[in-house]
Amino acid sequence: MAANWKMYKTPDQTRDFFRDFLPLVSGHTRDEIVVCPPFLDLPAALEAAKGSNVSIGGQNVHWKEEGAFTGETSAALLLALGVTHVIIGHSERRQYFGETDDTVNLRLKTALEAGLIPICCVGEVLEEREAGLTDDVLRRQCVRAFHAISAKKAAKLIIAYEPVWAIGTGKTATPELAAEAHAVIRTEATEIFGEEFAANLRILYGGSVKPENATTLISQEEIDGALVGGASLDPKSFTAIVKY
Ligand code: PGA
Repeated sequence: MAANWKMYKTPDQTRDFFRDFLPLVSGHTRDEIVVCPPFLDLPAALEAAKGSNVSIGGQNVHWKEEGAFTGETSAALLLALGVTHVIIGHSERRQYFGETDDTVNLRLKTALEAGLIPICCVGEVLEEREAGLTDDVLRRQCVRAFHAISAKKAAKLIIAYEPVWAIGTGKTATPELAAEAHAVIRTEATEIFGEEFAANLRILYGGSVKPENATTLISQEEIDGALVGGASLDPKSFTAIVKY
């Protein structure tokens, strides 16, 4: 169960969140929980979550070890702070910041090499769904994202299926649509990484997950968890989703 805070919350607001959230989920062992705040909130989040059952993730990682890449963050920087997870290829990065399947592949390779657990996002835009291209798009995104990565290297990979038309719009994919897309992704993962890998692969659903729809979505057999944006900003509503 992953929270994507996007560009929300200051360090003080981060501390407030964890003060309220941690007691609500302490002892919850059914699911892994990870919160991905903005980079500048990472120290506050890591400090607050120390010793708890909540892991902390970044929202992106550059593929180079270090160098003249103004505004970027390396795997080494994230690891030095104690970050364990990282979101890669979120649709907002693809839509607004020129992220491509190829840069997603570079970031993924680096994250896996460094020992970070990547949450790799894929998903179609509305025009692609309406044109009947969803399956093709998901297959293309997977093939390119996982190019030249071995099953052994990819062992910790988590995929998030996020239909772009459902992100922050209040429109959710029906549980059936989401499950269908997850099945396409799992089939593609079987082709690329093999059956055993695909059977153990965790695929999260993301896109307007709320306490009201979490149960019907996540109880679909194909859906292993959720990547939650807006509804993860409030400790009570994220708890309700975590404990669906
Ligand atoms: P949302 O965002 O839950 O606000 O739709 C999900 C995401 O973008 O990861």
